Amino acid sequence: MAELKIIAVDEISRAALLIKRGAQSCIQEAAESALVETCAVTRAELDELKQAITEWCGLQVIAYYDLPTASWVFIALHDMTLGPAVGGCRICTYPKPVDAARDAMRLAEAMTRKWAVIDSDFGGGKSVISIARPLAGAERAGLLERFGQLLENLGGIYQTGEDLGTSPSDMAKMAEATRYVHGFDRATGRPLDPGPFTALGVLVGIKRSLQHFYNDAAPKGRTILIQGLGHVGGPLARLLQREGAQLILSDIREERMKELAQELGCLMVEPETAQATPCDVYAPCAMGGMLSRQAVSSLRCNVVAGAANNQLEDAEVADLLHERKILYAPDFVINAGGAISLPLLHKGASEREASERVEGIARTLGQIFEEAAGLNESPLHAAERKAARVLARARSRSLLEASTFVPAAKDS
Ligand code: PHE
Repeated sequence: MAELKIIAVDEISRAALLIKRGAQSCIQEAAESALVETCAVTRAELDELKQAITEWCGLQVIAYYDLPTASWVFIALHDMTLGPAVGGCRICTYPKPVDAARDAMRLAEAMTRKWAVIDSDFGGGKSVISIARPLAGAERAGLLERFGQLLENLGGIYQTGEDLGTSPSDMAKMAEATRYVHGFDRATGRPLDPGPFTALGVLVGIKRSLQHFYNDAAPKGRTILIQGLGHVGGPLARLLQREGAQLILSDIREERMKELAQELGCLMVEPETAQATPCDVYAPCAMGGMLSRQAVSSLRCNVVAGAANNQLEDAEVADLLHERKILYAPDFVINAGGAISLPLLHKGASEREASERVEGIARTLGQIFEEAAGLNESPLHAAERKAARVLARARSRSLLEASTFVPAAKDS
């Protein structure tokens, strides 16, 4: 059961500090009525939001309504067993505040698993900014600065980086107000883009998947369909092209798709028909939830291996893929390249070092495939068990540390 902490409009600093000290109950009510008064939400929407958050298995959701831009900000903290919650910041538009909060919560859960499978010392968290309309220039900058101020006031319990809809320059803007941004190198002023590292991880993951399925890791001559050509799908297409893959590209942004397909001299398909297009590997690199039950029944591929977070509509979809003998590379494993590289680069590691570590994804994925094959199950279950083992070990370690054994004093 998670707690909801609402920060009153225009009260970022005071409210965030109160939340940290656990003295939030008095501001909560004031914040709620302020939100209703400013028409940010109706009472019914607020109740729906509170219910969704209270039912969640994570720790806490911090909500903030940005009055100047009419945007909702949700920071979801899922698990902090391994350390402070770190995860990207997503900016897009959602139908209702509760939809944005749900996305933040699911994405935060995925971050917990991602950090655990790569043996990191961060916990799972994510932030979602739901904008009412496209924001640019001073308006966007203002929102990013206030978001940065909020993170600064939360004192590091949540730290951010790039995700869908945010760029290294957005991170640089946030970093003017906070230390808790990973996608930006303070010392050199250089933006750190996780996209190409995530793409590299997906490339080695696709090769490992090909190895497992065909007993031949080479992408050369394999038909690979990439759906979503953003910060990760784009660089992935270029990497695969260099390896001689037969690419098929798809994106809802038609111009983007045409431009890249022309540059790389490859085929394209409309997003509506992408999933039913015959190929060896289907690489979802766009929004989450693209693999519904229905979508799985229409797939005509042998491998699903892509960069998107939360690809499966729910965990049972993994079993359907397994039944259809389609190999599924668990998303939170294959897309961990950004998470592996960002903290390393932040600490001053070279790009080469970061790339080498990212390439380790192939080994992790290989172990997961082997374990799952031995048990005739979806690799998702093996990956989830691996994450759970890491978390359980960390929990018992901290329990041991907390219970110091004091020998009884001898009678004198
Ligand atoms: N948002 C990307 C992901 O989901 C990259 C990222 C990882 C950003 C970790 C910040 C922190 O993996």
